[in-house]
Amino acid sequence: MGGMIRYPNSCLGSLLVLGLVLNVAVVSNAGKSTTFVRKVEKAVDMPLDSDVFRLPPGHNAPQQVHITQGDHVGKGVIVSWVTPISPGSSSVVYWTENSKHKYKAKGIVTKYKYYNYTSGYIHHCTIKNLEYNTKYNYKVGTGKYARTFWFVTPPEVGPDVPYTFGVIGDLGQTFDSNKTLTHYEMNPTKGKTLLFVGDLSYADNYPFHDNVRWDTWGRFVERSAAYQPWILTAGNHELDYVPEINETEPFKPYTHRYHVPYKASESTAPLWYSIKRASAYIIVLSSYSAYGKYTPQYEWLQNELPKVNRSETPWLIVLVHSPWYNSYNYHYMEGETMRVMYESWLVQYKVDVVFAGHVHAYERSERVSNIAYNITNGLCKPVKDLSAPVYITIGDGGNSEGLAANMTEPQPSYSAYREASFGHATFDIKNRTHAHYSWHRNQDGYAVQADSMWFHNRYWRPDDDSSDH
Ligand SMILES: *[C@@H]1O[C@H](CO)[C@@H](O)[C@H](O)[C@H]1NC(C)=O
Ligand SMILES: *[C@@H]1O[C@H](CO)[C@@H](O)[C@H](O)[C@H]1NC(C)=O
Ligand SMILES: *[C@@H]1O[C@H](CO)[C@@H](O)[C@H](O)[C@H]1NC(C)=O
Ligand SMILES: *[C@@H]1O[C@H](CO)[C@@H](O)[C@H](O)[C@H]1NC(C)=O
Ligand SMILES: *[C@@H]1O[C@H](CO)[C@@H](O)[C@H](O)[C@H]1NC(C)=O
Ligand SMILES: *[C@@H]1O[C@H](CO)[C@@H](O)[C@H](O)[C@H]1NC(C)=O
Ligand SMILES: *[C@@H]1O[C@H](CO)[C@@H](O)[C@H](O)[C@H]1NC(C)=O
Ligand SMILES: [Fe+2]
Repeated sequence: MGGMIRYPNSCLGSLLVLGLVLNVAVVSNAGKSTTFVRKVEKAVDMPLDSDVFRLPPGHNAPQQVHITQGDHVGKGVIVSWVTPISPGSSSVVYWTENSKHKYKAKGIVTKYKYYNYTSGYIHHCTIKNLEYNTKYNYKVGTGKYARTFWFVTPPEVGPDVPYTFGVIGDLGQTFDSNKTLTHYEMNPTKGKTLLFVGDLSYADNYPFHDNVRWDTWGRFVERSAAYQPWILTAGNHELDYVPEINETEPFKPYTHRYHVPYKASESTAPLWYSIKRASAYIIVLSSYSAYGKYTPQYEWLQNELPKVNRSETPWLIVLVHSPWYNSYNYHYMEGETMRVMYESWLVQYKVDVVFAGHVHAYERSERVSNIAYNITNGLCKPVKDLSAPVYITIGDGGNSEGLAANMTEPQPSYSAYREASFGHATFDIKNRTHAHYSWHRNQDGYAVQADSMWFHNRYWRPDDDSSDH
C-alpha cells in the first residue's frame, strides 16, 4: 500500500498538527474529508502465539468469556464461554459485592463442526431478574480452574438516565484491532456497553474459514467482552457460507458462539432484535437476511417501530452492517436496497442515529433523507431532513483487509465528515435532549476527539443540530 492518496478535485483546507501526526483537512461542499500524510501500512493479523490469544491456565479452563444483554430491559445477562476438552458445567455462579448469598443459573452447552474443524464446548447461560445498577461478580467453570469476572447492570430504563455506549465495527484480530480495543478501554469517556456493528473475527479470510481464528478472536476480546455487554450485529464475515466444502448453513459459527436475546423482542431469528438499555432503545438489523416486503425481518421491524415509547426511551438507535449512506468507493450502494425498503420508517419514527460498519473507514452524514421518489417525480436526491437520523459508518476497527482510502469526489453534500483512519466512537447520553458523540482515531492520544457532535434528540428536541459541534 502506498502513501498519501491525493484527490484532484480537492482544495486544501487547513493544516492541523496533532501530536506527531500531520493531518490534511480537505474541504469540499459543506463536508470535511481528511487524509493522513503518513504511510498506510497493511493491517497484519496478530500471530497465533500473541499474548492476547494466550490460553487461560489449567486443564479445560473456560476461555472466550463474553456477555451480552439477556432480556429486553437490562435485568438479564447472557454469559457465554468455551471449554476446550470436555463440557464441564454450564452453570454460572453470581453474587453482588456485599451479599453473602451466591446464586446459580443453569445454562446450555452446544458445539458444531465446520469442514474439518470441531469446536470446543460452547456454553450459554442466561441470568435473569438481576437488580438494576448493581455490580455482580460471576464465576464460570468449576474447581481450581474456575474463573471469576464481573459486570455492572444498567440503571432502570427511563428517559433521563445518562448512559455511555462505545461503538466499534469490523474489528478483526490485527495489531490495529488491538490498538482500537485498547483505545476504547483507555478512553476517558468510559463506555459501559459496546455497540458492535458486525464483522467480528474475519476467520473466513483463512483457508477453509479456519475456525481456530474464531477461537483466537474470542480470547482476544475477552478482556472487554467478559466485563461489559457487547451488543452484536451480524456482518458478511459472519456468513461463513461455502458450498464448495459443503458448508451451506449461513451464520453457523456466529450463531453457535454468540447468543442474543432476540425472543424477548418477539423476533424469530437472532439476526434482528431489539433491547432497551437505560434511556436508549436499540434496534439491530441484518443486512444479510431477507428484508423485502413480507419477509420475517420486514414484518418484525414494521411491528417493532411503533412499540418504541420515546417518553420511556428517548434515544432510538439502529445498528446495521452495510451502510445506507456511504461516499467511499468501497461497497458503494451495497446498502441501497435496504435503504429503499426501510428509510421512510426510520424518518417517520425519528430514529436518532444509525451506526453501520462494512466500509473500513469513518464517515458521518448530515441529517438527510431520500424518500420522496416515486419513479415519475424525479425527486431522487438526498435532501436535508430534520426527522432523519445521522448515519455513521464506523467499519474502521482495524481488520486485516486494511483501510478503505478511496473516496468519491467531490464529497457529496450528505457527507459531513469522512476519514480513512482506524478508530472507535462513544455515544454519551446526558439526558433526554442531549448526547455527546465522538470519534477517536487510533493515531491520536486516548482523549483526542477527531470528530464530534452534540446530538439533539429527534423526539424531544428536533431542531437543527448539525452545527452544534
Ligand atoms: C483441515 O484441512 C486443511 C486442508 O487440507 C489442513 O491444512 C488442516 O490442517 C486441516 N485441519 C484439521 C484440524 O484437520
Ligand atoms: C495488545 O494490547 C495490549 C494492551 O495495550 C498489550 O498489552 C498487548 O501486548 C498487545 N498485544 C499485541 C499482540 O499487540
Ligand atoms: C460434499 O458432500 C458431497 C456429498 O456428501 C461429497 O460427495 C463431497 O465429497 C463433499 N465435498 C467436500 C469438499 O467435502
Ligand atoms: C410511555 O412511557 C411513559 C413513561 O414510562 C408512560 O407513562 C406511558 O404510559 C407510556 N405510554 C404508552 C403508550 O405505553
Ligand atoms: C409522484 O409524485 C408527483 C409529485 O409529487 C405526483 O404528482 C404524482 O402523482 C406521483 N405519482 C405517483 C404514481 O404517485
Ligand atoms: C478509486 O476508485 C475509482 C472508482 O472505482 C477508481 O476509478 C480509481 O482509480 C480509484 N483510485 C485509486 C487511487 O485507487
Ligand atoms: C441536558 O444535557 C445538556 C448537555 O449536558 C445540558 O446542556 C442541558 O441543560 C441538560 N438538560 C437538562 C434538562 O438538564
Ligand atoms: Fe463487512
